[in-house]
Amino acid sequence: MMNIDELRSELLERIATTDQPRDILKADEIKQLYSVIPTLDPSERGSHGKAVNELKLALEAAVALREEEMEDGTVESLDVTAPWDINALPPQLLPTEQGTQHPLTTELENVIDIFTRMGFEAIESRQIDDDHHMFGTLNFPENHPARDGYDTFRTEEGFIPPAHTSTMQNRILIDRRAKLEAGGQIAAVSYGRVFRNEDVDATHEHTFYQCEGVFVSKDATLGDLLGTLRNFFEVYYGQKLKIKTQPAYFPFVEPGLEFAIEKPAALGGKPGEWLEMLGCGMIHPNVLTAAGIDPATYRGFAWGGGVERLVMLKYGIEDLRHFESAKLQFLRKFA
Ligand code: PHE
Repeated sequence: MMNIDELRSELLERIATTDQPRDILKADEIKQLYSVIPTLDPSERGSHGKAVNELKLALEAAVALREEEMEDGTVESLDVTAPWDINALPPQLLPTEQGTQHPLTTELENVIDIFTRMGFEAIESRQIDDDHHMFGTLNFPENHPARDGYDTFRTEEGFIPPAHTSTMQNRILIDRRAKLEAGGQIAAVSYGRVFRNEDVDATHEHTFYQCEGVFVSKDATLGDLLGTLRNFFEVYYGQKLKIKTQPAYFPFVEPGLEFAIEKPAALGGKPGEWLEMLGCGMIHPNVLTAAGIDPATYRGFAWGGGVERLVMLKYGIEDLRHFESAKLQFLRKFA
């Protein structure tokens, strides 16, 4: 027979994990403890009986505790992030049939959908990152003034809420290097929130969305980059577009370009009215090397830009701050 201490921990364990804790008080092992009493030497019966009683008391206390705990557990759980009508008493959950998806979410899905159909896989970006991915792997030398251009927030521990989705480039390249070496190519877009320590106005927010693309193969060209972007913008705006580029500096591409489209007449544009949409270029050899990809064999292109800007042009939204304003009048236009 088990000794009483071992039995105690065994039964306490069972009580803690069952939904019927009271049944454990009737366990066969306990009955046995009683049934052996007549067989014991009379001098042992007293101490045995005492030990069994103590065991019973401990088990009963554990059962009561477990029952209390289970009662707490049956309280209806509450989604604290759900939209509550705080003017009702007690507060009521707002009916879901009145809600709609936020226009930025819808448009981001739209953007991702277009790139997915073009053969890019979509990866959500991180919202907390580090210096290594924000700058180091992107060919920003230590103390280079280009770092200042990103108005980067930092936590006291030195973490960085990313100021661009380019923080994902190194991870994307490393994770898919094997695919490249097996004769394939890397084609991915990353998307998500980015953060900059900027003064907020009609065209600047401290928090906004970016979408970024990375493509690597043995023979990727600047022409492929421009074709990819033209195709995306023409599908997104549903019409033929005029595009142009001009040189720009980003440490992680060479050459680096700004990509612009002529504002379509259908969206209120005049001929010659160019809108700068994003930054792009051929991936710098140092960025490929940082991911263990040989720049003598492989080449790639990348682009990245804000999502709000795309949406503002599409719908003629004049102030970026509307998106996060929670103004129903604004949001209902997209319902
Ligand atoms: N990350 C850059 C920015 O936010 C944009 C960019 C992405 C430029 C990829 C070139 C290549 O300003």
